Amino acid sequence: MASVQDRLKEVAAVGQEIVETGFAYLDGEFVPLADAKISIATHALQYGTGVFEGIRAYWNAEREQLYAFRLREHFERMARSVRIMRIALPGDPDHLSALAVELLRKNGFKSDVYVRPLAYKAARSVKVALQGLRDGFAMYSFPLGAYLPTGGLAARTASWQRTADAAIPARGKLTGAYINTALAVDEAHDYEADEAIFLTADGHVSEGGGANLFMIRDGVLATPPVTDDILEGITRDSIFTLAKELAIPIEERQIDRTELYVAEEVFFCGTGAQVAPCVLVDGRPVGDGQVGPIAKKIGDLYFAIARGDDKRHAEWRTPVYR
Ligand SMILES: Cc1ncc(COP(=O)(O)O)c(C=O)c1O
Repeated sequence: MASVQDRLKEVAAVGQEIVETGFAYLDGEFVPLADAKISIATHALQYGTGVFEGIRAYWNAEREQLYAFRLREHFERMARSVRIMRIALPGDPDHLSALAVELLRKNGFKSDVYVRPLAYKAARSVKVALQGLRDGFAMYSFPLGAYLPTGGLAARTASWQRTADAAIPARGKLTGAYINTALAVDEAHDYEADEAIFLTADGHVSEGGGANLFMIRDGVLATPPVTDDILEGITRDSIFTLAKELAIPIEERQIDRTELYVAEEVFFCGTGAQVAPCVLVDGRPVGDGQVGPIAKKIGDLYFAIARGDDKRHAEWRTPVYR
């Protein structure tokens, strides 16, 4: 596998501060990102009472087009997340999708970008509750390359448990819940691993720090069920569709930690992660320690479809420019 230094180089931009150029959307209007400010007394800043999304748009240089990937599905999930947090969105998924397209157009990006919508408890209040607090909505975007290395990464099982649904639900993409991820990923980095693997309270594999997890055993693709404290990933859902089309058998089932040690392949997937094969788990090579053929096949297809180089699944791509 590539050295830690080379893997870090691929994801170097992730660790850098976002440059505040171009426009953002804040509470009903487009404003320069540098001017999109909120109060330090904001409830969500104090208590993590927010909901967010992460959406990628891929630049296709040949067609001079930017394609947002599964845009509507991200706002549909956001609409589900806010139900948990009792936050009102300023519009339905169609309206928010249109706002995202307008934001990308205004910024005129000609590179791969990431869009971050954020709905949050905006009230300047110290009351720890959800009801009766004013809501806010913001969205910004910025260029983003790889979030995790895609050429074969190292993962480490976290000593931090995945937050249980009865504590802080992973099903919602909740800002405060990402403390759990930050603790686990930071620990992984201490051991020179790129990504964490969360276990549930009862010791089953849940997901990565910021990505869903798949393994291949005996030629069957397997991923933990939605009841094992995962975020119900949109990339995960795309992979279900692609695997069926590639005639790769797939199942949702509980996975033991040590199954990852004996699996033929392991990979992560997510909007940030894209399709990121894992070649080392807890210091043990996965399979022969190389990127496996199934992860490669699925990854190649995902990138080709998302970028619009492969015409299939046009319904997953929203062209930004007219
Ligand atoms: C904890 C977690 N799990 C899974 C995913 C993957 O979800 P999606 O494919 O919808 O981006 C993400 C985000 O990318 C995440 O933060």
